[in-house]
Amino acid sequence: MITLNVNIDHIATLRQARGGKEPDPVAAAVVCELAGADGIVCHLREDRRHIQDRDVELLRQVVTTKLDLEMAAVEEIINIALRIKPDLVTIVPERRMELTTEGGLDVAADIKRFKDLVNKMHDAGIEVSFFVEPELLQIDAVLETKADMVELHTGLYSNLKSKNQWSQELERIKTSAKYAKENGLKVAAGHGLNYKNVIPICRETVVEELSIGHSIVSRSAFVGLERAVREMIDIISYATLLR
Ligand code: PXP
Repeated sequence: MITLNVNIDHIATLRQARGGKEPDPVAAAVVCELAGADGIVCHLREDRRHIQDRDVELLRQVVTTKLDLEMAAVEEIINIALRIKPDLVTIVPERRMELTTEGGLDVAADIKRFKDLVNKMHDAGIEVSFFVEPELLQIDAVLETKADMVELHTGLYSNLKSKNQWSQELERIKTSAKYAKENGLKVAAGHGLNYKNVIPICRETVVEELSIGHSIVSRSAFVGLERAVREMIDIISYATLLR
């Protein structure tokens, strides 16, 4: 069964729009877990545009499934992670002006630095995943760092409109996921996945974990968060049966 980790950043984005207390991403995490989510993801960005330090502190206390802290490999956030001890950190690139994470991390460009980071996290009992493009070069680099997991970036797959390009990108995800799994990494995927495009990922790849935020939070505005999470879980379960 493929597990679903729900990203709650967009609940925090809504709260920050008014600078008040609601909606509270910590309360959202509880609802997601009650609806059956296997984990909660939040991204503590250097610019603190959505998730705040207080959220991560409270999420660590409240989340009973798995807490995945998305973060850039920068000293300030590394120290917060080492103190708070999420179950998993997912290392992502971060650019100031981007609307959301725009691409995978170039792990191959600085393997030594990322290997040291994995060592530090492992010493603190924290698992490490790297968010990369579905490319064998990047997966080889992740393997060298001795990380536990890789998250394949599905942003391009999610945005492509032409069927031909879309099938090629799915093929790239399939090949990368298989290669990563055969070499001992746990394999996740995420970015831009919704209630439709998640189906081929579940049916045709060996991905074991999904990180989904925007589509679930968007749908929750109309049907409620609990139902939005349950519906995604149902689709994932059904599609996985067709593997
Ligand atoms: N995975 C990573 C590494 C991300 O940065 C994001 C976006 O925060 C997601 C998954 C979830 O993407 P979306 O919100 O488009 O579902």
